[in-house]
Amino acid sequence: MKSITAALLVFSVFVFSVSHSHSDATGIVKNRMDAMTDMGDKSKRVADMFKGKSEFDKQALTDAADAFVRHGAEMISLFPDTKESRTGSDTESLPRIWDEWDDFTKHTEEFVTRSESLQTTVARTDDVGELRKAFFQTTKSCSGCHKRFRKPKG
Ligand code: HEC
Repeated sequence: MKSITAALLVFSVFVFSVSHSHSDATGIVKNRMDAMTDMGDKSKRVADMFKGKSEFDKQALTDAADAFVRHGAEMISLFPDTKESRTGSDTESLPRIWDEWDDFTKHTEEFVTRSESLQTTVARTDDVGELRKAFFQTTKSCSGCHKRFRKPKG
């Protein structure tokens, strides 16, 4: 009995670590992970810049804002209410997305609005302080949605 428990434990640790590489994801879950990862990579580049870890490069900010607007527009379609979408490929999406769909939609809309506003700000000004503020205002929408609709990191 004990050895079975130990074996299960080893198995679940293995599954957990695999789920974080996501190389095995397929279908709709892979599509949304790819979209999220693209935004994550671009956000990290800009955040490092604003934290002084790298040179300020406005093009990186333009790229991030464009990616937010593009993926924001497709976000709803990346979360269909199907079995594959709810449970496939070690998804980190919570069932709450579909159980509280109106609320999820609101978070998506807020993200789209802030992303469009960021895009406008980026086109209008070179004021680094203003750009920083607009950027972090937008990424608040990322963490706000993750906090509510994504499984907490274990
Ligand atoms: C409206 C909700 C929502 C918004 C807005 C949102 N995300 Fe996500 N994000 C999710 C959900 C849900 C998942 C889990 C997806 C899954 O595993 O099925 C996720 C997953 C991720 C992941 C992990 C991807 C992977 O391979 O597992 C990253 C990185 C990420 N998001 C970055 C971002 C960034 C950066 C932003 C903002 C620029 C953002 N997200 C905006 C809901 C959102």
